[in-house]
This record gives sequence, structure tokens and C-alpha cells, in this order.
Amino acid sequence: MTNACVIGWPIKHSRSPMIHNYWLAQHGIEGRYEKVAVEPADLSDFLKNLAQNGYRGCNVTVPHKEAAFALADVVHDEAIAVQAANTFWLEGGQLHADNTDIYGFLAHLEQSAPNWHKGQSVTVLGAGGAARAIAYGLSHSGAASEVRLCNRTLARAQALQASFKEHNVSVVDWQQRHEALAGCALVVNTTSLGMEGSPSLDLSLAALPASAVVADIVYVPLETPLLAQARQKGCRTVDGLGMLLHQAVPGFERWFGVRPQVTKELRDLVVADLGE
Ligand code: ATR
Repeated sequence: MTNACVIGWPIKHSRSPMIHNYWLAQHGIEGRYEKVAVEPADLSDFLKNLAQNGYRGCNVTVPHKEAAFALADVVHDEAIAVQAANTFWLEGGQLHADNTDIYGFLAHLEQSAPNWHKGQSVTVLGAGGAARAIAYGLSHSGAASEVRLCNRTLARAQALQASFKEHNVSVVDWQQRHEALAGCALVVNTTSLGMEGSPSLDLSLAALPASAVVADIVYVPLETPLLAQARQKGCRTVDGLGMLLHQAVPGFERWFGVRPQVTKELRDLVVADLGE
């Protein structure tokens, strides 16, 4: 039996087991996907003993994405680009690491807004791990001609910009975030603002073209105040749940040998669970 797992600290609220076990059942694959609470001090031992514990690989989540990346034998391009990994697998006795958040974001965007206006400017709000993955993905793939990074703490946005080899990433002051949307084909919120229990993002969409797409990585609630505002303006919206579903696809394929689909049924299952 092939097994995989997700590790984090804490890990209780992870939806990854629901996603992967849905696909295992759907494809009639004998295997299991578990969640395991791993303290930071135990991370190295856990990854060394993956095979002994019956695992083909694992996902890693907060707070291990950077530390686990440094422990892999072979690190793939997207993980190198964002200096963090979320998907690990054993191959030829070596531990491989990649970052599938970039794929997850771009695949979901493509599925939800297939003909969004690629090749134009985009604004990314935030400068944490998610911003790094999304800004890199948009810039490196050529989907955006220019990425405007805008973060409350300017120095973090500047550090992120300096870490990219891509030259089409610029930094905008947080106070200028409303004006930064002029001429953009896409705006992405990667901050925690709008999440249940957090204040909403104060962002005027007046300068944003009505043809633009507004994306949020927050998925509780599914329609954040930002997305509701965008919908009222007539913009297409892309919620945060799809990124979570799509980022799971490459890992499942590595471990279990089948490329799974993100279906409406799977999405509904996770949405129902979020509502509980
Ligand atoms: P992750 O790695 O998951 O993206 P993170 O590193 O905690 O998360 O980043 C959270 C983002 O939300 C940051 O960009 C943060 O801005 P700062 O770098 O200035 O901290 C942003 N954020 C959180 N609370 C905010 C607030 N009240 N106003 C503006 N930005 C906020």
C-alpha cells in the first residue's frame, strides 16, 4: 500500500487528507493519506524516516515550508525560485522537493478565468510566502508583463523584489495601493485581510478596469469582502479555495501515479467541510 501524509504544527485543520482521500477512493487506489503533527525539532528525523514509516512522500505546511526545503536531496526549480517547498517524494532513494503553490494558483486562475488578459500588469498585495510564489509564477511564466508588489511593510516588498531574477517586478507604497490598480489585468490579495476574524482589506477598485480579474487567496469566507466588491463592479473573481485544490494535483500524481481532476464534487465536499 502506498501512503502519503501532510505534516505541520499544528495540523488539525488541514483539508489535504479530505482532498487526497477523495481521489484515492475515486480511482480505487489502495493507499492512505494521513495528517501527522510534527514539531519543528522533529522535522529532520521525520523526513529521514519517510520510507521506513511507509510513506512515498508528503506535503509540508506551516511552519515547515522553508526548513523542509533545506533538508531535501534534490530541489526542483519552482522550490528554488521561492526558497520553500510544499511537496516531497522519494525517488531513487533520494528526497525530492518542489513547490506546487505556483502551479495551484496559475491552474486555478486559468480554470476560473480562462481568457483573462495575460501579458499585462498585475498587482500583488502582500509580501509573505504566498506573495512570493504568486509573484514569481506570474512574472516568470510571462502571464504578467509587470508585477506591482504592494505590502504594508515596504521593506518586505523590497526584499522580495530583490530576491527575484525577473526584472519586471516593481514595488509600490501601501498608501498607493488604490492607484496601483490602474491598467491592471489582475489583482491578487495574498494578505490575511478579509479572513474570518481579520479586518477586511481597504482597497478602492475605482482605478481597476472592469475587464480585470480579482483574486483572493483567503478562502474562509469563500467570498471575501474584496471579492464581493469586485463582483459588484462587474469584475471576474477567483476565490482562494481553488488554489488549495489545484496545488494538490502534482503531489497526488507523484505518489499514486494518476493525475487527478479538480471536480465540482470535490470542491463541494471541501466547501461543506469549511461550513462546519
Ligand atoms: P504568508 O507567508 O502565508 O503569505 P505572512 O508572511 O504572515 O503569510 O504574510 C501575511 C501578509 O499579510 C503580509 O504581507 C502582511 O503584511 P506585513 O508584511 O506588513 O506584515 C499582511 N498583513 C497582515 N495584516 C495586515 C494588516 N492589518 N494590514 C496590511 N497588511 C497586513
